[in-house]
Amino acid sequence: QNNAPNTFTDAQTGIVFNSWGIPNGSPQSQGGWTFGMALPSNALSTDATEFIGYLECASKDAAGWCGFSLAGPMTNSLLITAWPHGDTVYTTLRYAGGYSMPDKYAGNAEITQIRSSKNATHFSLVFRCRNCLKWDHNGSTGQASTSGGVLVLGWVQAFPSPGNPTCPDQITLEQHDNGMGIWGAALDEKVANPSYTAWAAKATKTVT
Ligand code: HEM
Repeated sequence: QNNAPNTFTDAQTGIVFNSWGIPNGSPQSQGGWTFGMALPSNALSTDATEFIGYLECASKDAAGWCGFSLAGPMTNSLLITAWPHGDTVYTTLRYAGGYSMPDKYAGNAEITQIRSSKNATHFSLVFRCRNCLKWDHNGSTGQASTSGGVLVLGWVQAFPSPGNPTCPDQITLEQHDNGMGIWGAALDEKVANPSYTAWAAKATKTVT
């Protein structure tokens, strides 16, 4: 995937994202995978504690899940998992000590949603993630530092839906089957926007 960011504006919300991903049609992941990030206006000089995220993930017959790691590897990093069910896109914050079903994240991070959508081949979610760029899972700590100008992130994509899909704290997952990887996500000046505060205020929907 790209290291230098693409920049796009989400048509429905006007939010400007730096984005990275796997193109649709790539052999690494059927359907592709896209992640976008928007940050507070001073994030390239002072580490941000939160971001607005954009996820667009492949899905077959409205099933599947995808996610990313805020440090790169699956282990010892804050993990965000998202999946569609009915008219809703659900999320859960997770943390894994090993390569098995991640635990529910024990820290105080919180996701609120701005918009979501799905069609026959993809689902997407625009969300605010507060306290997500520094983590503490029962004493295991880490950080994604925005002032450094580059993040190391991990992506993952899977076609089977989670078990218990309407109960994010209690989902079950099988090992992902549609690609994964780690990449360096360079940030450019368009990621940090004076409108961040106004955009973040639109994240009023809590899905639990
Ligand atoms: C990699 C298992 C859930 C993110 C891996 C690998 C295994 C694994 C065995 C290494 C595979 C290889 O190198 O060939 C599992 C199992 C899961 C699970 C059994 C659940 C039952 C998740 C979740 C996320 C995630 C929920 C994030 C939201 C990643 C990422 C990688 C990865 C980013 C690639 C980076 C790395 O190797 O650390 N997973 N995983 N996984 N997993 Fe998972």
